[in-house]
Amino acid sequence: MPRPRPRAKGPAHFVERIAERDRRENLGLEYKWDDYRALSTERTVIENRCLYVINNFFWFGHGKPLVDAFAEVPRGKDQPFRLLDDGAGEGVFAAEMGAELAKAGIKCHTTALTLHENQALSARHHRGEVSEVVVGPAERFVPKRSFHAIVSMIGSTSYTLSPVRKDHLLKFAYSLVPGGLLLAGFEVATEAAKALTPGNIPFGFSRRPKRDRKMPLETEMRGIERAFDKRGFDARFVEYPKIARQIDRVPRWMLIVRRRLPGNRPTPRG
Ligand SMILES: C[S@@+](CC[C@H](N)C(=O)[O-])C[C@H]1O[C@@H](n2cnc3c(N)ncnc32)[C@H](O)[C@@H]1O
Repeated sequence: MPRPRPRAKGPAHFVERIAERDRRENLGLEYKWDDYRALSTERTVIENRCLYVINNFFWFGHGKPLVDAFAEVPRGKDQPFRLLDDGAGEGVFAAEMGAELAKAGIKCHTTALTLHENQALSARHHRGEVSEVVVGPAERFVPKRSFHAIVSMIGSTSYTLSPVRKDHLLKFAYSLVPGGLLLAGFEVATEAAKALTPGNIPFGFSRRPKRDRKMPLETEMRGIERAFDKRGFDARFVEYPKIARQIDRVPRWMLIVRRRLPGNRPTPRG
């Protein structure tokens, strides 16, 4: 008897896997409003890397400016470029990137995903500089439509617990259109960002996790690359030079993922 074909995986599949793992291993990913309200601007510094910095970071790893790489992502005629900024902070990058794409003649729909609302982000949204704001734990976020690009500089992919990070990144990757790009910072280095990592903020989103198995970074990174490779994505980690990292206050690593177009073979590793 023919075996049933496995269900095509999409973002919801990975959100369910994360929830299931949380239940099974009692990780403590069950955020409540009060848990993340503590991350409001009054309590913490929201750092905001601007387009200039994120562009430098990307240019180093990819060899071209973000706007050019985004312009190459296949899109339907008259379809706006759909960009997700995961961990948008005050929305500086999302707003600037939207404006930069507009200058290049590309209409953009920007979604700012944030654990906690803040005034600056709401104001940008009201002024129309950011198209949409989604508030809540990104680990539960299932997009209604696919994105042409997702940027998570120091966003949920940095803050989430390591046992679920691979699935969380896969969820974002499966939220891309074919040919779409994901850029994620890896291994946060700045002091303010470290202060937000799990366990450091009493009553915050980052209340002490019940369990956060830490595996060696190298092991985690190789596992992530393998997981992407076999699922139809080209993925690689690029190490940002230390001096530039200190100036730009960006993570040590950048993960660049491209969803392969149907029929495309994996790009050989350089
Ligand atoms: C330090 S700010 C970084 C802002 C900006 N991306 C940057 O690099 O400057 C961290 C952002 O990540 C968001 N964040 C952290 N954990 C999150 C989670 N689990 N789900 C959704 N957003 C999260 C916070 O709400 C905040 O917007």
